[in-house]
Amino acid sequence: MADAAELKTAAARAAADEIRDGMRVGIGTGSTAEAFVRVLAERVSGGLSIVGVATSERTEALCRACSVPTVPLDECPELDVTVDGADEIGPGLALIKGGGGALLREKIVASASKRMIVIADGTKVVEMLGAFPLPIEVNGFGVFATYLQIRKVAASLGLSGDITVRKAGEGPFITDGGHLILDASFRRIPDPEALSRALLDVPGVVQHGLFIGLASEAIVAGSGGLSRIKP
Ligand code: A5P
Repeated sequence: MADAAELKTAAARAAADEIRDGMRVGIGTGSTAEAFVRVLAERVSGGLSIVGVATSERTEALCRACSVPTVPLDECPELDVTVDGADEIGPGLALIKGGGGALLREKIVASASKRMIVIADGTKVVEMLGAFPLPIEVNGFGVFATYLQIRKVAASLGLSGDITVRKAGEGPFITDGGHLILDASFRRIPDPEALSRALLDVPGVVQHGLFIGLASEAIVAGSGGLSRIKP
């Protein structure tokens, strides 16, 4: 049976097959997106010509190491496709993302793309979002006040659970944009749209990891092979 790394590479390879000469490609963050970078690098070394836009400093560094060409999003603000992983893939291709902390740039890049292809192994597909703690990127100013407001809006939607500041070693995890991340263990998110709107109404919230209406397709690799899910 294929291990997790092989499944991620299988999904990444199928997504890379969709990339054509001249495409402007958003490149996600995380272990599955890194598998995509490696497969893309093989195709680039074989002559494929693309312009990539990385969704994190970490992805940017890997692209550089693998000779996958990238430019900043502002040099290429409209993209043909973005390929990225996900922490959970729910009904309608609503996603939880941000386990790797890159959710803000991932969402900006996905929104600038005509298509978003999600690549994942089968463990990421769920019947309801929420078992994976929802990453919420917040401004460092008044983080406790923001935390209290998030608790309040969540409670108004019947959601509760631990909300913790993500750590990196002894200190807080700091995103590429210089913000903090709160991980909210709601366990079940029956109405992702309502939660998305409520969180974005909290002034200290910069962005959250619910991706709704962005994914065009998910390529999911399981022991039985690849499956493609549409919204
Ligand atoms: C990065 O911030 C995330 O959104 C990743 O795309 C997500 O966490 C999936 O990561 P893996 O491919 O490592 O599971």
